[in-house]
Amino acid sequence: MRILAISGSLRASSTNTRLVHAIMRLAPTEIEFLMYEGLGDLPHFTPDLDGDNPPPSVLALRQLLRTTDGVLICTPEYAFGVPGSLKNGLDWTVSSGDFSVKPVAAISASPLWGGGDKAHASLLLTLTALGANILEEGKIIIPMVNKKLDAESNLLDPALVENLQAVFKAFQQSNNQQA
Ligand SMILES: Cc1cc2nc3c(=O)[nH]c(=O)nc-3n(C[C@H](O)[C@H](O)[C@H](O)COP(=O)(O)O)c2cc1C
Repeated sequence: MRILAISGSLRASSTNTRLVHAIMRLAPTEIEFLMYEGLGDLPHFTPDLDGDNPPPSVLALRQLLRTTDGVLICTPEYAFGVPGSLKNGLDWTVSSGDFSVKPVAAISASPLWGGGDKAHASLLLTLTALGANILEEGKIIIPMVNKKLDAESNLLDPALVENLQAVFKAFQQSNNQQA
């Protein structure tokens, strides 16, 4: 199965992006991850641009969503919310319905104790509005993330590794149910 991985951070040395790469390395061979690189290229969402000919970057995102079996999102929290660029990307999928019933893992990570819990709650609300199938095992909040990744982006926390293994299983189960 193919999973689209989205980091909610555009920062070059983002911990969330490093976390996504660590998750991709940890995944069993049956799950192929594709890293979405286009979040920063999407125009600001407005329904005026979302007509018969949406911008090419939007079409590319929708095509990726249509050709993958699930989505994994790792996001930081900015000012108690989801980063604007990630919310913008999600808003572009409202009219296309590409998140509808799609299995999604929603992860927030922060160097602070809260783990981005407010962004996480907000992300769950948005995904609910989009009709996504939010996997229970995929709802993960990671506090103190800097202590859980080393300089080579290896995962240092066995409990987190165990939680992520459960996410892979949940993705595979949802895929088997759809087949
Ligand atoms: C403008 C700004 C606002 C932030 N707001 C929060 C916040 O509300 N909660 C939080 O846990 N961390 C907050 N942070 C700290 C981020 O969690 C931290 O910079 C993190 O490394 C960003 O994720 P990234 O490494 O994936 O880019 C904020 C950082 C910036 C730059």
